[in-house]
Amino acid sequence: MTVFVTGGAGFIGANFVFHMLNTYPGYRIVCLDKLTYAGNLSTLSPVMDNPNFRFAKIDICDREAIYKLFEEEKPDIVVNFAAESHVDRSIENPEIFLQTNILGTQVLMDACRKYGIQRYHQVSTDEVYGDLPLDRPDLFFTETTPIHTSSPYSSSKAGADLLVMAYNRTYELPVTISRCSNNYGPYHFPEKLIPLMIANALADKPLPVYGEGLNVRDWLYVEDHCRAIDLIIHNGKVGEVYNVGGHNEMKNIDIVKLICKELGKPESLITYVTDRKGHDMRYAIDPTKIHNELGWLPETKFADGIKKTIKWYLDNKEWWETIISGEYQNYYEKMYGNRAEV
Ligand code: NAD
Ligand code: DAU
Repeated sequence: MTVFVTGGAGFIGANFVFHMLNTYPGYRIVCLDKLTYAGNLSTLSPVMDNPNFRFAKIDICDREAIYKLFEEEKPDIVVNFAAESHVDRSIENPEIFLQTNILGTQVLMDACRKYGIQRYHQVSTDEVYGDLPLDRPDLFFTETTPIHTSSPYSSSKAGADLLVMAYNRTYELPVTISRCSNNYGPYHFPEKLIPLMIANALADKPLPVYGEGLNVRDWLYVEDHCRAIDLIIHNGKVGEVYNVGGHNEMKNIDIVKLICKELGKPESLITYVTDRKGHDMRYAIDPTKIHNELGWLPETKFADGIKKTIKWYLDNKEWWETIISGEYQNYYEKMYGNRAEV
C-alpha cells in the first residue's frame, strides 16, 4: 500500500506521517510538500532514512510534477493536508489560499482520476460551517450543517470540499472528507495561538489576545486527529463527510491563562489587541457520526495534552527558535507591530 501525504512537512501532516509509519510498517509513505514558510523539512528528519519513506518537494498546483510522481509511485491512497492554513494570513493575502487550497486540490484529484486510486481523502476544517453563537451551548456542527464561511481561508476550504464532492458525483472518484476542530500538539507552527503564547511567555513578551478573548475553539490533540483520518481512509464510506472533534470547548483567554500558570508566568503579560476581522465566535463539533460508524473517540484529555505540548516546546526549543528567528520575524512585526492595544 502506497500512501501520498501532501503537506506532510507541516504540523498535522508530519504527525500523520509519523503515525502511519509507526502503525503500518508495511506501507510506503510518500510526503509531497512545497515547503512554504509553514513547511519544515527538519520536522521529518527522524524518518528521512526510513526505507518506507520518501520526501518529494512539490507544489500540488504543479500538474506536470504531480502527474510524474503519480506515474512513478502509483499511490493507492492520497491524503491531502497541503494548504495555506492560517486565517490571519488569508485576511492579508487571499489569493494564494484560493490557488493552493482549491486549484491544488483539483490537480490532485485530476491525477487520481488519470492514474486510478482507492481513496482520495480531503483534510478539511470545522471552519467551513462558520460560527455558532456563545449563548446557544446546545448547538453543534453536524455533517449536515450548511456551509457558511467567514474568512478567505474557510471559503477556500469550503470551495475545495464542494469540488471534492463534485468529483465524487460526476466522475465517481472515491473520496472522503474530514472536518476537524482546532488541533494542538508537537510541531504546531509558532504563529498559531497555543505555540505563539508558549513562545512569547517563555520570552516574557506580551501575549496578544484578540478582542476580549471570549471566542471559543474546540481543541483536539493532534494524534487523535491522525487516528481519525487513519480510520476514515481504511473504513470510512466513500462519498461521506466525517466531523472530528472531542467536545473540548475553551475560551481563548482561558487557554492563555492556563499557559501562564503552567509556565509560572504572570497574567500581566496578557495584552488585549485589535480583534481579527470577521472573527468567528464559537466552533463546536458533534462527532457522533465518526464515533457510531468507525468507533473513534479522542484519547488525550486537554489537561494532559496541554502539559505534553508545553513540555514538547520546552524540550524542542531549537525547532521553534529557528523558525521564529527567520522570516517569521517579518510576519510578526507586520501582524502585531500595528495591532493597537485595546
Ligand atoms: P500547516 O500550515 O502547518 O502545514 C501546511 C503544509 O502544507 C506545509 O508543510 C506547507 O509547506 C504545505 N503546503 C502549502 N502549500 C502547498 C502547496 N501548494 N503544495 C504542497 N504543499 C504545500 O497546516 P496544518 O495546521 O498542519 O493543517 C493541515 C491541514 O489540516 C490543512 O488542510 C488545514 O486546513 C487542515 N486543518 C487544520 C487544523 C488545525 O487546527 N491546524 C484543523 C482542521 C483542519
Ligand atoms: O478550527 C480549525 C482551524 O483552526 C483550522 O482550520 C486552521 O487551519 C487553524 O489555523 C485553526 O484556526 P484558528 O483561526 O482557530 O486558529 P488560530 O491559532 O489562528 O487562533 C485560535 C484563536 O485564537 C482564534 O480565536 C484567534 C485567537 N488568537 C490567535 C492568535 C494567533 C489570538 O487571540 N491571538 C493570537 O495571537
